[in-house]
Amino acid sequence: MDALLPLLLVLAVSAVSADEDAFIGVNLGTDLSDMPNPTQVVALLKAQNIRHVRLYDADRAMLLALANTGIHVTVSVPNDQLLGIGQSNATAANWVARNVIAYVPATNITAIAVGSEVLTALSNAAPVLVSALNFIHSALVASNLDGQIKVSTPYSSSLILDSFPPSQAFFNRSWDPVVVPLLKFLQSTGSHLMLNVYPYYDYVQSNGVIPLDYALFRPLPANKEAVDANTLLHYTNVFDAIVDAAYFAMSYLNFTNVPIVVTESGWPSKGDSSEPDATLDNANTYNSNLIRHVLNNTGTPKRPGIAVNTYIYELYNEDLRPGSVSEKNWGLFDANGVPVYILHLTGGGTVLANDTTNQTFCIARPDADKKMLQAALDWACGPGKVDCSTLLQGQPCYDPDTVVAHSTYAFNAYFQKMAKSPGTCDFKGVATITTTDPSHGSCIFPGSGGKNGTFLNGTSLAPSSNSTTDASSCAVYFRGVGSFTTSVISGLLLMVAVFL
Ligand SMILES: *[C@@H]1O[C@H](CO)[C@@H](O)[C@H](O)[C@H]1NC(C)=O
Ligand SMILES: *[C@@H]1O[C@H](CO)[C@@H](O)[C@H](O)[C@H]1NC(C)=O
Ligand SMILES: *[C@@H]1O[C@H](CO)[C@@H](O)[C@H](O)[C@H]1NC(C)=O
Ligand SMILES: *[C@@H]1O[C@H](CO)[C@@H](O)[C@H](O)[C@H]1NC(C)=O
Ligand SMILES: *[C@@H]1O[C@H](CO)[C@@H](O)[C@H](O)[C@H]1NC(C)=O
Ligand SMILES: *[C@@H]1O[C@H](CO)[C@@H](O)[C@H](O)[C@H]1NC(C)=O
Ligand SMILES: *[C@@H]1O[C@H](CO)[C@@H](O)[C@H](O)[C@H]1NC(C)=O
Ligand SMILES: *[C@@H]1O[C@H](CO)[C@@H](O)[C@H](O)[C@H]1NC(C)=O
Ligand SMILES: *[C@@H]1O[C@H](CO)[C@@H](O)[C@H](O)[C@H]1NC(C)=O
Ligand SMILES: *[C@@H]1O[C@H](CO)[C@@H](O)[C@H](O)[C@H]1NC(C)=O
Repeated sequence: MDALLPLLLVLAVSAVSADEDAFIGVNLGTDLSDMPNPTQVVALLKAQNIRHVRLYDADRAMLLALANTGIHVTVSVPNDQLLGIGQSNATAANWVARNVIAYVPATNITAIAVGSEVLTALSNAAPVLVSALNFIHSALVASNLDGQIKVSTPYSSSLILDSFPPSQAFFNRSWDPVVVPLLKFLQSTGSHLMLNVYPYYDYVQSNGVIPLDYALFRPLPANKEAVDANTLLHYTNVFDAIVDAAYFAMSYLNFTNVPIVVTESGWPSKGDSSEPDATLDNANTYNSNLIRHVLNNTGTPKRPGIAVNTYIYELYNEDLRPGSVSEKNWGLFDANGVPVYILHLTGGGTVLANDTTNQTFCIARPDADKKMLQAALDWACGPGKVDCSTLLQGQPCYDPDTVVAHSTYAFNAYFQKMAKSPGTCDFKGVATITTTDPSHGSCIFPGSGGKNGTFLNGTSLAPSSNSTTDASSCAVYFRGVGSFTTSVISGLLLMVAVFL
């Protein structure tokens, strides 16, 4: 054992001195009517290879579930506890004892976010913000935890004024009495500036000045690339411009060595009629490009190669959040852990890429209307030309003999057969995509690691003239739902057109 020690020390030192690889984390908002329990949350993080998570509180059950997982955790002092903590060293010490010391080292708490966007959201607490940071830090020092746990407070990027060109950016001077001591604190404690970066809002509020492609990290024609006339740096996306604006705003106050971590960034996948750019495609494009950009260690034009670690806002869609439709739709996953969209991450590393890029399956929504499922199932095994013979009695996928299980098999077989092309896992809304392989026992699903998934022939998208015949022969696979099978079959020729 002793012989290992020097080696471990060498490794630890080199990990610190070398440029560390950038990471992607996620924010864990919990305003869900159907909030997954901590065990389920941790299972999702693990399956997606997400090794950094930020909590908006210090929930006991969540922190216990994160113990011994290797996942790095940022805990938060909620804004409503900030006044108390900023006014009393004892209250701060007590908070740290109950919410941090009680869980380390088993739970790897690496940062404390003290409040959230305090200067812009809760300005009456601003006078005590720096005290709160100092008190929390003192408590960590007293427990010898200050080396491994950083203390900071997430800023809204709206605090940065004149952010283009980035070289002219500065922090709203009204807040200098807070910002300057805060930066001193971050510098002297070796902490980082926490910054929330929302190109979505910058784009929406720009009234067309910012091109959508620029916000989404899509390539721009050379003549549309933003060039900072003072530095001649080229900006190909809004995210980099905001991060660099923060670097410049700090250096304007003579702070040049405080690193930045992006505590929130993302894009909503759904909005109301006044939010036309909150779409699945845009959210997917933004987050996929963001992840690739961050993990590539690209850095920013001002600080190339310097990691900009980023937490995506957010892990789950939060259906209970007040406000517009988009507010509830920033998540990567729904409450069942089903991805809202499939990120395009080929070549982007392993985080969030497990299954989501290459291994996806189409399943029946468990809560879907059974008649709709049956109709879709009949269509898949009939006109959809899926080989449903494995669902017959005595065959590997007969059990469980339910319309949900059988349609899951058929939907997925169709989806794989169609090379997972867009729109082929919908079935009028009763199907959904998952990254979890539904194979069980000897029932191996097509698309599952190439095992026996070789029957995927068939090319016809158009209903064949034989579809009614095919469908009725298919109906035999699904006993127990027979009461409506017949009527469904007679409607099949109609359905065929509707499903695709
Ligand atoms: C990916 O998913 C599989 C199960 O689907 C799981 O066994 C594995 O641990 C996950 N994570 C990675 C990084 O592959
Ligand atoms: C916590 O994370 C840090 C940073 O990756 C690492 O150096 C440390 O060993 C981890 N601690 C535990 C107890 O896992
Ligand atoms: C606050 O409490 C810590 C112990 O938690 C102590 O080390 C520090 O001196 C105190 N600071 C003040 C200003 O009282
Ligand atoms: C700067 O901050 C002050 C105080 O919050 C606010 O009133 C003012 O509108 C801000 N200035 C700009 C340009 O946003
Ligand atoms: C930054 O440093 C320069 C040179 O040392 C000095 O002139 C300037 O006043 C400083 N600015 C601030 C905001 O402290
Ligand atoms: C990755 O980084 C290299 C330079 O380190 C750069 O040339 C390349 O464009 C980057 N790719 C992406 C997707 O950002
Ligand atoms: C996904 O597929 C691409 C090419 O199709 C391959 O390069 C990559 O390694 C695959 N990723 C995983 C996680 O299997
Ligand atoms: C497919 O399954 C059969 C038996 O179910 C087995 O004999 C055959 O080797 C499998 N083929 C592959 C490629 O795994
Ligand atoms: C699938 O198509 C290929 C050629 O298109 C053919 O050789 C093969 O036999 C077909 N497989 C099945 C199961 O129909
Ligand atoms: C319709 O079914 C008959 C008999 O099964 C078959 O010979 C014919 O090729 C089928 N037609 C089409 C368009 O699939």
